[in-house]
Amino acid sequence: MKQLKLVHQIQKSLIVMLLAGILLAYSCQKKPYKQGERLYVNFCANCHMEDGSGLIGNIPPLADSDFFRDNMSLVPCIIRYGLADTIQVNGKDYWQPMTGIAHLTDIEISNIINYINEAWGNDLGFYPPDKVKETLTVCPE
Ligand code: HEC
Repeated sequence: MKQLKLVHQIQKSLIVMLLAGILLAYSCQKKPYKQGERLYVNFCANCHMEDGSGLIGNIPPLADSDFFRDNMSLVPCIIRYGLADTIQVNGKDYWQPMTGIAHLTDIEISNIINYINEAWGNDLGFYPPDKVKETLTVCPE
């Protein structure tokens, strides 16, 4: 009898653990965008603006940017190591260099990218963190 009770107890705690796991998975799924937003506001918005519009002639936009959309595989490297090139974004030239933000972790970079991907009318889907990690190991000098 006692043993049966124990089995029930274990079953109950397994169910509780399962529910907690589902809840945790759900909140983790939500969290990247929140962290990404906070990091964006702290580290990018002073140049690219809070609404991703940039500054015509100086700072390229991240909202509705053809460069961002078409060069997704470069973006992790741009965030970490910066960019000093003449680039064309939505038909306009930009040449002011951007300094990289070296202390952001792989995960933080991927959260920022996934925030941008869904912000301000962008609809660029999910960029998997392991892809970001992989890209960061092969950044051009
Ligand atoms: C000090 C100002 C500054 C900060 C801070 C900054 N950027 Fe930039 N960013 C620039 C400039 C200037 C360029 C253009 C570089 C060039 O032409 O070589 C650029 C270019 C880019 C590009 C490529 C062009 C485009 O519009 O798609 C991306 C992507 C980008 N930045 C993302 C970010 C992200 C994400 C952050 C924050 C983690 C950030 N930047 C922080 C100034 C800044």
